[in-house]
Amino acid sequence: MSATHKPLVFSGMQPTGNIHLGNYLGAIKNWIPMQRQMPCIFCVVDMHSLTIWVEPNELRENTRKIAAAYIAGGIDPKLSAIFPQSGVPAHAELAWILSCVARIGWLNRMTQFKEKAGKNREAMSVGLYAYPVLMAADILAYKGTHVPVGDDQKQHVELARDIAQKFNNDFGVPDFFPLPEPMIMGPAARVMSLRDGQAKMSKSDPSDNSRINLTDDNDMIVQKIKKARTDPEPLPTSLEGLDGRPEASNLLGIFAALSDITKEQALMRFGNQQFLAFKNELAELMVEKIGPIRDEMARLMSDAAELDRLLRDGARQAEAIAEPIVAEVRRIVGLVAR
Ligand code: TYM
Repeated sequence: MSATHKPLVFSGMQPTGNIHLGNYLGAIKNWIPMQRQMPCIFCVVDMHSLTIWVEPNELRENTRKIAAAYIAGGIDPKLSAIFPQSGVPAHAELAWILSCVARIGWLNRMTQFKEKAGKNREAMSVGLYAYPVLMAADILAYKGTHVPVGDDQKQHVELARDIAQKFNNDFGVPDFFPLPEPMIMGPAARVMSLRDGQAKMSKSDPSDNSRINLTDDNDMIVQKIKKARTDPEPLPTSLEGLDGRPEASNLLGIFAALSDITKEQALMRFGNQQFLAFKNELAELMVEKIGPIRDEMARLMSDAAELDRLLRDGARQAEAIAEPIVAEVRRIVGLVAR
């Protein structure tokens, strides 16, 4: 990253499906301390959710739900801008311009599109294919420099770097866009399914037992941890002992992230113990940490008008940053001034 760019954090989350523990530990929880270190913008990327069919009313409601989860999880709207992507037209406008910079070959390499489309590639929306370009526009509309995300978004942020670099080269404006850095943090950057240690915990897994939703009640949390898949051995005493034991590794990573310790420290505590004792402590810790977030989310969700007001304020703040940057992009590429 060039020294000419002021640090700015940008990250986002789709309002699709159930917000879960992976979203919290891989993203929101890591955003909280950054708010006091540099300007932060946290977007609810509702236009990204249109890439796969979603009921319009569900989308509207889920946009509020994600905003509520940001705030309940510790994002302070007085320190950070929280807003829906569609509230700032600069995202869509810049996405078009950047889609003329990005190359088809680059998008063809995106593993998430391949996973989501599977064998059904021809039937997917154009938006799903172009999705990472919109993500690059999200970040670059603010000249974002730091992008804290879970491990699964790393490739997309790297694509945003490539797009930024090509724009700067093509138009002879070295350093116009910063090259944003993906920040993959903590021991739970890739939380796995509770039913299968090889699959990512995901909003769309048909099995609800595969994930802890941020809306789950305490009983559900305890039951899901009890049922979580394990192996028959006691927990190991060293990190190497977790090799080939994805379920044990996942549950320990979750414990470590929730208690702000490293996996090594968690192993010092639980090494040689049976899963039963460990799971009891994990369930208790999870209820203690997730319970208050769930309750605060519900409280915030009960006042939709207040949430909408917050989102509108956030959009105004965000637009004040993005609009001059995108106006400059229009000028650089030769579009008429508005
Ligand atoms: P999304 O909505 O799928 O996920 C939101 C955030 O949660 C992280 N995450 C996880 N972290 C750990 N373990 C998991 N199992 C797990 N599942 C999800 C994601 O890595 C992400 O940080 N394309 C993005 C949203 C986006 C965005 C952006 C992010 C759009 N524009 C600009 C950053 C910057 C997405 O679909 O995330």
